[in-house]
Amino acid sequence: MTAPKTFHVKSFGCQMNVYDGERMAELLGDQGMTATDDANQADVVVLNTCHIREKATEKVYSDIGRLRKHAGALGRSPMIAVAGCVAQAEGAEIVARAKVDIVVGPQAYHNLPDLVAKAAAGVPALDTDMPAASKFAALPARRRVGPSAFLTVQEGCDKFCTYCVVPYTRGAEISRPFDAIVDEAKALVDAGAREITLLGQNVNAWGKDEGQGLDSLIRALDRIVGLERIRYTTSHPNDMTQGLIDAHRDVESLMPFLHLPVQAGSDRVLRAMNRSHSRDSYLRILDRVRAARPDIALSGDFIVGFPGETDAEFAETLNLVDAVGYAQAFSFKYSPRPGTPAAEMDGAVPAEVMDDRLQRLQAALNRDQAAFNAATVGRACALLVERKGKLPGQMLGKSPWLQSVHLITDAAIGDIVDVDIVSAGPNSLGGMARVRAAA
Ligand code: 5AD
Ligand code: SF4
Repeated sequence: MTAPKTFHVKSFGCQMNVYDGERMAELLGDQGMTATDDANQADVVVLNTCHIREKATEKVYSDIGRLRKHAGALGRSPMIAVAGCVAQAEGAEIVARAKVDIVVGPQAYHNLPDLVAKAAAGVPALDTDMPAASKFAALPARRRVGPSAFLTVQEGCDKFCTYCVVPYTRGAEISRPFDAIVDEAKALVDAGAREITLLGQNVNAWGKDEGQGLDSLIRALDRIVGLERIRYTTSHPNDMTQGLIDAHRDVESLMPFLHLPVQAGSDRVLRAMNRSHSRDSYLRILDRVRAARPDIALSGDFIVGFPGETDAEFAETLNLVDAVGYAQAFSFKYSPRPGTPAAEMDGAVPAEVMDDRLQRLQAALNRDQAAFNAATVGRACALLVERKGKLPGQMLGKSPWLQSVHLITDAAIGDIVDVDIVSAGPNSLGGMARVRAAA
C-alpha cells in the first residue's frame, strides 16, 4: 500500500469520543494528511467506537461492512482503524472478526501515525496499552475550533457500577494537570472557542488525588479573557462537593446546567448497581444545588430493566422523575455487558417489560422537558450563536440552560447576543434579539 494521503474520522457515543476524534484528526493533519468528509473516498477511515451498550458495539461491525461495500463499489479499499472503547475491550478479536488494519485504544491514539505507517507496510497494527505517561503530551496543539469546544480534564472511573464497562475500557480515574488544562483552554480560546465544556467520565472527581477540586479549576478558567462560558460533564453524585455547588452560585461564566445521573429511583436497585448513593442522598444534593443556583437546569441518565427490577421499583424511578423535574435526560434499556458483575445477575427483565418501562419513563421525561422549555418563554438570556439555521437569516445557538434556540439575526457564529425567549417547542426555543436601549 502506498502512504495514505486522506483520512476520515467518525466518532460514536459520548462527547469524550467527539473530543478524541478531533484530536486524532489534528494528529493525522499534522502528518500532512488531508481530512475528507466522505468516508468512502478516504485512504484511512478511523471509526472511533463506543462500547457502553450492545447496540453501540454492534454498530461498528455493520459500519465496517457498509464502508467496505460502498468504498469497494468505487474501486477503493480504505485502511480501516478501529479506535475508542470497542478497540480497548475487544482488541485482537476485531482483527479476527472484521479484518481491520488498525486497532487502537483510547489511551494509545497518540501512536496513530506510527500505526498507520505500520499498516501501510502490511504489518498488523494493534495498540491497546494504557501507558502511565499521558497521551496528551504527545498531541499537537489545538488549531481551529468552533465557538463551543470540548476539553478532556479527567478520564476513567473507579466507581465500578455493576452494569458499566467504563472502568475496564477507560481505566482508572486520572486527572490531567491543572497547568496543562489551563494552557489548552487558552489555546482553544485563541482557536475560536467562547465556551468550553470540561469532559470526564467522572469530571467532578477531577483533582481528587491531589487534594484539588473541579471548582478551583473552574475558578481559574473563569479568569481567561475571551472564555465566556464554562460547562462540565459527566458528574457522579458522590463527587458533588460543596465547593463545586458554591461555584454555581459565584462563578458567572459557569452555566446553570448540571448533568447528574441517578440511574434508578429505588434504593434496592441502586445498591445492586453499586451506585454508592441513595435516592435520598441524591435528592438532597439537588436541593443544595438549587439553593445555590435556583434557575439551574437539571439533567440525568436512567437505566430501566436492571436485573431484578420490579414494577414497584420502577415506579420509584418514575416518582423520582416527578420529584426532580428534569430539564432534559437520557434513558436506556439495560444492556448486559461482558465482564461486568450485572451480566451474571439473575432476574433478567423480559424485553416487552423493558420496552414498556422505557416508553413510560420517556413520556414522563418528555413532559418535563416540554414544561421546562415552556417556562423559559418570557425570560431574557444570552445566546451563544453556534451555526446557521435552515431559514434565510436564521441562526441557531444555545441558551445558558443548554436549550437550542433559533432566531432571525445578523449576528455571526461565535457572537453572544441578548435575546428574549418568545416561543417553546419540545426540543427547541424561539428567540428574538433584544433591542438595546440607546446609551
Ligand atoms: N446498559 C444500559 N445503559 C448503560 N449505561 C451505562 N452502562 C449501561 C448498560 N450496561 C448508561 C448509564 C450511563 C450512560 C452513559 O449510559 O445511564 O450514565
Ligand atoms: Fe460507569 Fe458508574 Fe463509572 Fe459512570 S460512575 S462511568 S456509570 S461505572
